[in-house]
Amino acid sequence: MAVSAPDMSLYSFVRPLLFALDAETVHNWTIRLLASKNADYIPPDDFDDALASEVAGLRFPSPVGLAAGLDKNARAPWQFLGMGFGFVEVGTLTPLPQPGNPKPRLFRLAQDEAIINRMGFNNAGQTAALDRLARLRRAYPKAIVGVNIGANKDSADRIADYAQGVARMGPAAAYLTVNVSSPNTPGLRGLQDGAALAELLDAVNAVRNAKTPPIFLKVAPDLEPEEVETITALVIEKKIDALIVANTTLSRPSLISRHANESGGLSGAPLNDLAMQRLKDFRMATKGKIPLVAVGGIDNADEAYARIRAGASLIQLYSALIYHGPSLVGLITQGLAARLHADGFAHIKEAVGVDV
Ligand SMILES: Cc1cc2nc3c(=O)[nH]c(=O)nc-3n(C[C@H](O)[C@H](O)[C@H](O)COP(=O)(O)O)c2cc1C
Repeated sequence: MAVSAPDMSLYSFVRPLLFALDAETVHNWTIRLLASKNADYIPPDDFDDALASEVAGLRFPSPVGLAAGLDKNARAPWQFLGMGFGFVEVGTLTPLPQPGNPKPRLFRLAQDEAIINRMGFNNAGQTAALDRLARLRRAYPKAIVGVNIGANKDSADRIADYAQGVARMGPAAAYLTVNVSSPNTPGLRGLQDGAALAELLDAVNAVRNAKTPPIFLKVAPDLEPEEVETITALVIEKKIDALIVANTTLSRPSLISRHANESGGLSGAPLNDLAMQRLKDFRMATKGKIPLVAVGGIDNADEAYARIRAGASLIQLYSALIYHGPSLVGLITQGLAARLHADGFAHIKEAVGVDV
């Protein structure tokens, strides 16, 4: 990973204060603050033209997106778009509201620039977010806000929960993400297994209609080569529009922070190598037939560019935003454009997968 330049942003001065406080409390304040601002977002049209591309039939003005989990309840998607993200993924939203796991359940591993979370799909439910999302869509039909959907922990039929999510949230979403890769809902990752995944995708397809937006599938980084092959074959067969690679990992690359042994999903810098490897695996398996969205440990323009060259059409980030603040979005975006131009690519599409 490239060494970042010293961070002199305002955030670098505020960060020690925020990091002295409980992580989830700071998270909740931040979302509340952002949500309290007027929705005065005007979709930016000042992205470098080289960054725009069509993926799954949607026009993304920039490939740099906010990953799911930060704005679970779609309280402030326009504020994140206003930070310079080309697209935002809200959720995971489940059909019914649920409190998630007992606290504490969110840990900063500052020395590792990582996060461990075992939130467990805490969210206010799909219905509560619908109005806000529908309003945003009416006001800014071009803005790309994807909705990540999941199943309730106590649901008697988890597959039906996903079908319900597609039917209910589809009209309010630019795209939907079927999230079967959270490690914090017991058994959920089992839906990535062949027979279960086939059943799930059939149920999703049964409720799909002309108005349903593109459907993405978000997978775990903790997959064996045969699992990558099985998932790829099913995604192609069942006409899923894109794969998001990947969610947090249950593995524990060497970590030094005191919270290293907390249970839950690990994200941030230590996830980088694993997420990159899985991206390459999926690029090889899909042979460019399915667009890939890279997520996991991306915290600078070099890494974002490397993922694109490894096969990603889009990238997302979450943990790096906590460590580097909102100015990182512009740095990565501008850095990506500069790297594309330096390598003689007129459009990002030309760079996708050139290294694999
Ligand atoms: C606190 C926290 C909560 C998350 N919640 C969700 C979630 O609800 N749904 C989801 O698909 N991914 C969730 N994620 C995973 C992220 O979207 C992303 O896949 C992962 O953090 C790796 O990216 P990063 O290293 O840039 O953070 C969460 C991550 C964190 C740190």
